[in-house]
Amino acid sequence: RNFLQILGLTTLVTVVGGVGGFYYVTQKERHPGPQLPFDKEKKTVVVLGSGWGATSLLKHLDTEDYNVVVISPKNYFLFTPLLPSVAVGTLSTRSILQPTRYITRHKTRTVSVIEAEAKSVDPVAKTVTFTDNSEIQGEVSTTTLPYDYLVYAVGAEVQTFGIPGVREHACFMKELADAERMQRQFMDCLESAAFPGQSQQELDRLLHMVVVGGGPTGVELSGELHDFLEDDLKSWYPELAGKVRITLVEALPSVLPMFSKQLIDYTESTFKESKIEILTKTMVKEVKPKSVVLQNPDKSIVEVPCGMVVWAAGNTGRQVTRDLIAQLPTAQTNRRGIAVDGEIPSPVFCDVSSYSLVDHMRMDGTDGSIFAIGDCTATSYAPTAQVASQQGAYLARIFKQMARKEALVARKAELSATVNQITGEEEKKTVVSELASVEKQLTKLSKLRPFQYSHQGSLAYIGSDKAIADLPFMNGNVATGGVATFLFWRSAYLSTLFSLRNRVLVANDWLKVKIFGRDVSRDA
Ligand code: FAD
Ligand code: NAI
Repeated sequence: RNFLQILGLTTLVTVVGGVGGFYYVTQKERHPGPQLPFDKEKKTVVVLGSGWGATSLLKHLDTEDYNVVVISPKNYFLFTPLLPSVAVGTLSTRSILQPTRYITRHKTRTVSVIEAEAKSVDPVAKTVTFTDNSEIQGEVSTTTLPYDYLVYAVGAEVQTFGIPGVREHACFMKELADAERMQRQFMDCLESAAFPGQSQQELDRLLHMVVVGGGPTGVELSGELHDFLEDDLKSWYPELAGKVRITLVEALPSVLPMFSKQLIDYTESTFKESKIEILTKTMVKEVKPKSVVLQNPDKSIVEVPCGMVVWAAGNTGRQVTRDLIAQLPTAQTNRRGIAVDGEIPSPVFCDVSSYSLVDHMRMDGTDGSIFAIGDCTATSYAPTAQVASQQGAYLARIFKQMARKEALVARKAELSATVNQITGEEEKKTVVSELASVEKQLTKLSKLRPFQYSHQGSLAYIGSDKAIADLPFMNGNVATGGVATFLFWRSAYLSTLFSLRNRVLVANDWLKVKIFGRDVSRDA
């Protein structure tokens, strides 16, 4: 009996403690305290973007050292790896967003968050011009802001290769609105197919979903569509679900070229079992309102009727990035994006230019005051969230180091100015010793550690509760796929989500879908 009493008491204390702790943490998050105001003496860092790179920088940046301004057309961070899950209703949209203000309000110094799109950057005048493109605008909707340092992290946009009809008739899978649009269109295809009197030919068309691009986005989305079909639509549209076809079109000889061969084979065989048709060496040439035009491996052209086309064929630089690159034609010659860390032509304007020139995210052709990270850059790294977030965290350390260096330089000047005026022997000794210590610290800080990417592995969900993973192990690689990898995929993404709030919402959505299934109502 004693044992049971102790066990009961321990359980009670643990539960009450856990709930209390959880409540305390969440309330602390909800009610951030006062922040230091902007300081005219500090330098201004303008951050363009609120994606992986920018958000990671904001999370790690010590704002005590700088005045920080964030400019982005989205006032939130989007956890892109789970976007395909939103497109089929496994997750609700809000679960994978983190408002930028939830991050900046917890910083030591006030961070200004501006919902606007950067239209141009002047690297000589060191200004950014931005516009509020939202539906409702105030009296001022375009303005220009000066910066001391600019962190350029605007990501990339969908690559259409100028293929006719893509912009007009295909859904993308890049932004939150894309996932919402795809969900609406998919359900519309089903409801239109359920409309009485459709011919067999029209039914086949409406129920044919084409995903273009066999990269991880296209593969994950196809897997998610398949799950929706199997787990839910079979129950609610029994007469139609069996007729839905998913086709994945890829121009290269295989899907997922970045994964190891055995995982490519595993994905292809899983898709075969799931009745997802993969067309490799096949290129989409045009997207029409009711069909896609394909070029087969033998170069023949066919027009395939379909209800929906999802375009996941990769990314390209944004217009604002192309305009910025065009201003520096000598240094910026890479068409893939911003080149960083080459020769700095006039290293005169800011302290950072006195650092060595390898891998510090500085935009080539500028005085070192523009840093570029993530998908907008042209580096040897893949355009992934992993890279962008590591670069953001790295840059935060660089800013810390620059601030420390600046403070030491100022202190050195102060000490040097006073040392000769001091008459007292003891006092002079103290100042000289501090001067020596400052100089020592400055020497230590004179070199910035270059960015080093640490690859944590590649993961992708392929549907049917299966995932694939290429994980670095010792000096090699472990390739694994299946249900256990799916559980690992879920736990990895759950722990990578931005906040406790996101984790709770996503876990809750997964549980909700397990119990009640996905919602099939169409938000018109
Ligand atoms: P983004 O995260 O795209 O952020 C760019 C930011 O800039 C956005 O906030 C945008 O609103 C803002 N912006 C745009 N234009 C302007 C402007 N003119 N002025 C100011 N701000 C602007 N990578 C992985 O490593 N693992 C994954 O599992 C994975 N899954 C993915 C799934 C999907 C569906 C997609 C689309 C991508 C996925 N990626 C994944 C890739 C990853 O999302 C990108 O590599 C990453 O987002 C790049 O970060 P970024 O900061 O450079 O750009
Ligand atoms: P991607 O560039 O990786 O793949 C696009 C694919 O579309 C390419 O294989 C290309 O050959 C194909 N394609 C292009 N034009 C075509 C056409 N006209 N017809 C047929 N096929 C065509 O793009 P994706 O998948 O959006 O990924 C972008 C980046 O995000 C990558 O770096 C990727 O690694 C990363 N990512 C990573 C994920 C993960 O790790 N789970 C998930 C999603 C994206």
